[in-house]
Amino acid sequence: MSLLCAETPRTRRPIVMIGAGGIVCDAHLPAYRKAGFEVAAIYDKDLARAKSTAEKFGIANTPASLDEAASTAAPNAVFDIATPASAHLEILEQLPDERGVLLQKPMGEDLAAARSIRDLCRRKKLTAAVNFQLRYAPDVRAARKMIAEGKIGKLHDMEIRVTVFTPWHLWTFLEAISRVEILYHSVHYIDLIRSFLGDPLDIYAKTMRHPKMGKLASTRSNLILNYGDMLRANITANHGHQFGLRHQESYVKWEGTEGAIKTRMGLLMDYPKGVPDEFEYCILEAGKPPEWTALDIEGTWFPDAFIGPMSDLMCFLDGVIDMLPTSVEDAYKTMAVVEAAYESSASGGTPVLYD
Ligand SMILES: NC(=O)c1ccc[n+]([C@@H]2O[C@H](COP(=O)([O-])OP(=O)(O)OC[C@H]3O[C@@H](n4cnc5c(N)ncnc54)[C@H](O)[C@@H]3O)[C@@H](O)[C@H]2O)c1
Repeated sequence: MSLLCAETPRTRRPIVMIGAGGIVCDAHLPAYRKAGFEVAAIYDKDLARAKSTAEKFGIANTPASLDEAASTAAPNAVFDIATPASAHLEILEQLPDERGVLLQKPMGEDLAAARSIRDLCRRKKLTAAVNFQLRYAPDVRAARKMIAEGKIGKLHDMEIRVTVFTPWHLWTFLEAISRVEILYHSVHYIDLIRSFLGDPLDIYAKTMRHPKMGKLASTRSNLILNYGDMLRANITANHGHQFGLRHQESYVKWEGTEGAIKTRMGLLMDYPKGVPDEFEYCILEAGKPPEWTALDIEGTWFPDAFIGPMSDLMCFLDGVIDMLPTSVEDAYKTMAVVEAAYESSASGGTPVLYD
């Protein structure tokens, strides 16, 4: 299992931001500031938004058009696209060929769009990655290291469970689309599971709407990624738990033959304010009752995880690493699982014969 973001870029590459919305302010720009990356320009079709974000983060240039952002970018610049997925293809088309690009998830609104994005990146020879940053969250990296070192033995169970109240109203663009939860949220978990267990054989899924979220497509999902009869991988996501923090939960758990790791993704509880993360592990010892140990992990999903995909993209462009972990080629496979999940949900379960 490769340890992500183990290297640092060799050269300084200016970043050109496309999009100046919530996630850019909450995570991209704070992460790049923390990492010491230079953001040279920021463009948003809402120019006032670009200007106010530029002011807040000390970004010198706010191009008046995408064309200007693309044509004035330094030859070694990387483009960081953080717009709704429906805009990705059109933006990529206008970028110069043979550049580095990081693209926010999801990679288009369905698999057909993901294919168009992948094909465009191939044709334009873009070195492109998708921002599946959960793989790089500090607690996930700590778990990945422990698992790679064999601390919990053979990994045979991975579970992600989210029972939270997500303020979907913050993303009005979601109201117009037919896929919400799996495409925009659980896609992170599907990608995370793939990064640990590889590609599932197939998927069983059911995704449901919420009676109080009338403007949105489904916001709750149960997903079973099938890895055969010895490996369990589950995602349960309920974003409609409006009953306070007491019974909210948000965790990733890995179980192995010799131990287990559980980490709380505090960010999602009371999003975007969040509650603290918690990282615990248990290693079995002969003759002793199982005991859980807490570990202090520095940093958290927002913003720290956002350093990883950008850093690895820069490292790959510099030739420091020879594999781009969340390349569009790899991300396409995550999108293929998303597509299969929606198909599974639509096709229904096994009929029950009650007579
Ligand atoms: N953890 C994560 O990875 C994470 C979290 C939240 C959002 N996101 C992703 O980030 C993207 C943006 O989400 P957000 O929360 O910032 O949404 P937002 O609505 O706050 O911001 C989107 C911004 O994109 C701009 N925009 C739209 N089309 C554009 C175009 N063609 N050219 C330039 N600018 C354009 C809008 O004017 C707006 O400022 C989405 O794709 C979403 O899936 C990722």
